[in-house]
Amino acid sequence: MNKIYNNISETIGNTPIVKLNQIPGVDSIHNFFVKLEYFNPGGSVKDRIALSLIDGAERRGELKPGGTIVEATSGNTGLGLAFIAATRGYKCIFVMPDKISQEKRAILAAYGAKVLITPTAVEPTDSRYYVNVAKKIADNTKNCFYANQYHNADNRDQHYRVTGPEIWSQMNGKLDVFVAGAGTGGSISGIGKYLKEKNQNIKILCADPYGSILSDLFYHHKVITPAHSYKVEGVGEDFLPENVQLQFMDDFEKVTDREAFRMTRELIQKEALCVGPSSAMALVAAINYSKKFKEPKNFLVLMADNGKAYLSKAFNDQWMLENGFITKEELGSVFNQVTDYQNYYKELGL
Ligand SMILES: Cc1ncc(COP(=O)(O)O)c(C=O)c1O
Repeated sequence: MNKIYNNISETIGNTPIVKLNQIPGVDSIHNFFVKLEYFNPGGSVKDRIALSLIDGAERRGELKPGGTIVEATSGNTGLGLAFIAATRGYKCIFVMPDKISQEKRAILAAYGAKVLITPTAVEPTDSRYYVNVAKKIADNTKNCFYANQYHNADNRDQHYRVTGPEIWSQMNGKLDVFVAGAGTGGSISGIGKYLKEKNQNIKILCADPYGSILSDLFYHHKVITPAHSYKVEGVGEDFLPENVQLQFMDDFEKVTDREAFRMTRELIQKEALCVGPSSAMALVAAINYSKKFKEPKNFLVLMADNGKAYLSKAFNDQWMLENGFITKEELGSVFNQVTDYQNYYKELGL
């Protein structure tokens, strides 16, 4: 399509859907498709809601010229907000837990945002919890808009109004199972609501990391296994955000960090898809869930962000070993690909 956009925000959305071919487990009776949200200009699904949160705040007069946007973010929402803010003249302050990768912190700072780091391993009731810190800063900043992605309905509404119809049209309605993780819950809830209105037989599967309480809340309406920390970023929760609308979900699949991080490597090496661990986690959930179906089904997995943000983790052999995600024997499977040419000459006997 030949088109000149008026500004970078107009390039958000219309991300491609691609069929998987090589990953172990997708060679079954089912088809697995992935929607690649890293094609968005900020590199993640969160660009979509950054736009709706800012547009909504401007419309309601909550964000005025020269204002400051404050948000608790695992990085991607911050990036979306930061680039839209840059084009519209707003300042940004982001608060994020210390498990968030260095790459994500650095890129936010590059856009001109202030980045404040808080401890990950604290209870949601703790004053150091990143959401509580963000609220406190918002309360003490003049001309400030607290984006509140967890509870602000502009988040899930954007997915209901835009991402859901986009998926329905791209898949020509031929979709049986939609799979995504839930962080704020905006994408799975908004898309799930839209798809179910189109065809109530479409199953909405939520991929949930071990350590998150969301699947307990779905199946038992209370927490059975207390929340604990895990390494996959951006998905799973230790509280119930308003944007997690459990009524639009049919099932949950639990996934371990190990499965998610190993699948991140499989995706880049077998399908040339450089996506983050939350995307890989959603695919693991889809493959496991697909075993329940005896008839062929079309699965669509939402892949939320770009693997480049995780070079120091998923694609770092030492980090993978330290966390028990690869064995000693597998050490070097990525790092040994980068070496002085003379070492390779030696291997070749030159
Ligand atoms: C990497 C990543 N994956 C998935 C999600 C989940 O998206 P949502 O907040 O719409 O549930 C997020 C949200 O922060 C994320 O950062």
